[in-house]
Amino acid sequence: MSPVSGAVLLPVERLRRDFPILGERINGHPLAYLDSAATSQKPQVVLDAITDYYRAANANVHRGAHALAERATDIFETARERVARFIDADPQGVVFVRNTTEGINLVAYGWAGHHLGPGDRLVVTEMEHHSNFVPWQEVRDRTGCELAMIPVDDDGRLDLAAAARLLERPTRLLAVTHVSNVLGTVNPVAELVAMAHRSGALALVDGAQAVPHRPVSVRQLDADFYAFSGHKMLGPTGTGVLWGRPELLEATHPFLTGGSMISVVTPERTTWTEVPHKFEAGTPDIAGAAGLLAAIEYLEGIGLAAVDAHEAELAHYAMEVLSEVGDITCYGPPVSDRPGILSFNVRGVHPHDVGTILDRAGVAVRAGHHCCQPLMRRLGVAATVRASFYLYNTRAEVDALGAALTDVRRIFAEPAPPA
Ligand SMILES: Cc1ncc(COP(=O)(O)O)c(C=O)c1O
Repeated sequence: MSPVSGAVLLPVERLRRDFPILGERINGHPLAYLDSAATSQKPQVVLDAITDYYRAANANVHRGAHALAERATDIFETARERVARFIDADPQGVVFVRNTTEGINLVAYGWAGHHLGPGDRLVVTEMEHHSNFVPWQEVRDRTGCELAMIPVDDDGRLDLAAAARLLERPTRLLAVTHVSNVLGTVNPVAELVAMAHRSGALALVDGAQAVPHRPVSVRQLDADFYAFSGHKMLGPTGTGVLWGRPELLEATHPFLTGGSMISVVTPERTTWTEVPHKFEAGTPDIAGAAGLLAAIEYLEGIGLAAVDAHEAELAHYAMEVLSEVGDITCYGPPVSDRPGILSFNVRGVHPHDVGTILDRAGVAVRAGHHCCQPLMRRLGVAATVRASFYLYNTRAEVDALGAALTDVRRIFAEPAPPA
């Protein structure tokens, strides 16, 4: 993953032609979309897969006795198999949800809410997205269990010694992000999962910022639950995945009940159908699954290792550009150690003002707390600006970011007009 300065790692100009939105002009400038950590753009093959599904296969899945129902079911279940292969997992453990947030809530309500009580403990980290933090606070408040937090050190990495101390005591669940959406820190997830298992805990990994960008094997990580979002990996919004060990999913209560997830319903009681279907109540997002399938095929065609290397190279270049701009504080580990997520602040300028001025130049970044308020508190800031890269970003876009940041500095250096 080490950045290779100047190396052509991906045929980016050719890939960019696959993404119609990248031809947009914003405020008179070419769009420089540096906000893929929030949601990625979608290639034409994904847009086509969605409309093709509606044109030629639209029907409800799993229960129709007709050809279109079979086509729709085939697309939906093929998507499940391809998702499983993509993360090196068992298709029986792949549950389709709307996003990472829903996947984590499914475990919080369906597993933790039914298995934890006073005297039990959960461990999370100080760098979690609210999606992997607030549901566990809710579990604590509902069940009376304890919630502990692994701190972040001054370099933006997890304090592993503190993690080891916390996980020396019996624990029921560790919830940890694979890659930080603010700092870009890549956590040593396999090591943390092993620590969790030694303390008797299960390990849930938030893979929202990992699966779109680097090869992930849940088997090698030895995780128990792994959640991610399709919309951050070129797929449609409304698609996400929770993978769980099938035997743990068996022990997990359905989060939503109703149609499609039952085995037998009598006036007295209901039994659930087999996993993963017992978690997919109601009509699923079949068109979304068709789009996600196309996204995975597209990513596989490029290769995740090349995507990762391209982003690392861009991040490296961006650090050089930002240091030339000056008066910029970057957060997180050294850039040689992380993928394409850069959080920073411009001295004396509110991140929202930075975001607004960048937008005027067509540069799309995110400004705010990035749904990580505990981490913001640790960094001692209210907010940061975040630029995040994906396979379609270029050095020219990083240059546009640098030029717009130079403008930010110039505008804020000018004396205020007389009142
Ligand atoms: C690390 C991380 N976890 C969870 C989420 C939540 O993802 P979603 O909004 O798709 O549920 C995000 C979104 O940015 C994220 O970056």
